[in-house]
Amino acid sequence: MRRPPASRILGTGHYLPQMVRTNQDISKMVDTSDEWIRERTGISERRVAAPDECTSDLASAAAKNALDAAGVKASELSMIIVATVTPDMPMPATAVFVQQKIGATCAAFDLSAACAGFVYGLSIADKFIAGDPNAKVLVIGVELLSRVVNWEDRTTCVLFGDGAGAAVLGAAEGDRGLLGTELFTDGSLGRALMIPGGGSISPASVGVLEARDHKVKMEGRAIFKAAVKNLYSASQRVVTNAGLKNEEVDWVVPHQANQRIIHQVTTKAKYSDDKVLSNIARVGNTSSASIPILLDESIRNGTIKEGQVVLMCALGAGVSWGAAVSRM
Ligand code: UT7
Repeated sequence: MRRPPASRILGTGHYLPQMVRTNQDISKMVDTSDEWIRERTGISERRVAAPDECTSDLASAAAKNALDAAGVKASELSMIIVATVTPDMPMPATAVFVQQKIGATCAAFDLSAACAGFVYGLSIADKFIAGDPNAKVLVIGVELLSRVVNWEDRTTCVLFGDGAGAAVLGAAEGDRGLLGTELFTDGSLGRALMIPGGGSISPASVGVLEARDHKVKMEGRAIFKAAVKNLYSASQRVVTNAGLKNEEVDWVVPHQANQRIIHQVTTKAKYSDDKVLSNIARVGNTSSASIPILLDESIRNGTIKEGQVVLMCALGAGVSWGAAVSRM
């Protein structure tokens, strides 16, 4: 007999900045084409934040929508977890600014697990609520990647977008809730996707700026291979450990990194294409925000319904990856 779930997603929200940057726009900036980007990634356009918007603005907008959907007041929150690799500033945590903007008073901290950050956040929230069933935890995935992308590097600048997604978690109800989470990291690939400058190894300096070391650098093929292999195994494991079969999964909500990665992983696991949700064409890769944005869009447009089983999986810098399965 499996333990009943401890926590449940009570409500979700998301926020996308208004400005759209199309593949055609980017083809005027670097040597690329709409055709190449669509064929190799599935992306047609992405959102870019306005100059006066910061990460905590995007996060707070998504958080307010999630709190409304959950029927939870900011003052009732026990914890705010902001998963991001593009914080407002290195210190303090972006979560403290979100706390102020939404009117909360609880513990608030950032979580750095790149694209896997939202799944990591769900897992931490679940364990926290298991220890305190009265707790309400806000988990946000938010990125303002346009600020750290090198807009002269065609191998990365075509991929990323800005956005935020959020979920409020509270105690589970019967069999509705998080049925399992699995988290993994392989640090041997730590330098395959990084922002090398601005930290303790290479503090901010004119040299760092000149080398563009304050911008994202990626070995795309290495990350691609790691993603296909590990997202498949993590997804299989979380479903099996939850006592489910793949046929019992209603929807797959995968990290939106590359449509070819999504296709290879879900085909290998024998999920039919009509079960696999995607918004990468409109939104691009929003790292930690990608799963909660897609989840919220799919709940709001009626695709994901109460009682259905949703599988989420993500891999990113680290490489860190994870999977979660939830009965909504
Ligand atoms: O969010 C989690 C972390 N990120 C990911 O999961 C991303 C994983 N990686 C990928 O999605 C893919 O590796 C990319 C989309 C980044 C690249 O696609 P690829 O099919 O792996 O291309 P490639 O790196 O093997 O490059 C093939 C060719 C190269 O030209 P040559 O050397 O064959 O002449 C690249 O220079 O494509 C060229 N190329 C481009 N051409 C036009 C690379 N980027 C572009 C571009 N436009 N934007």
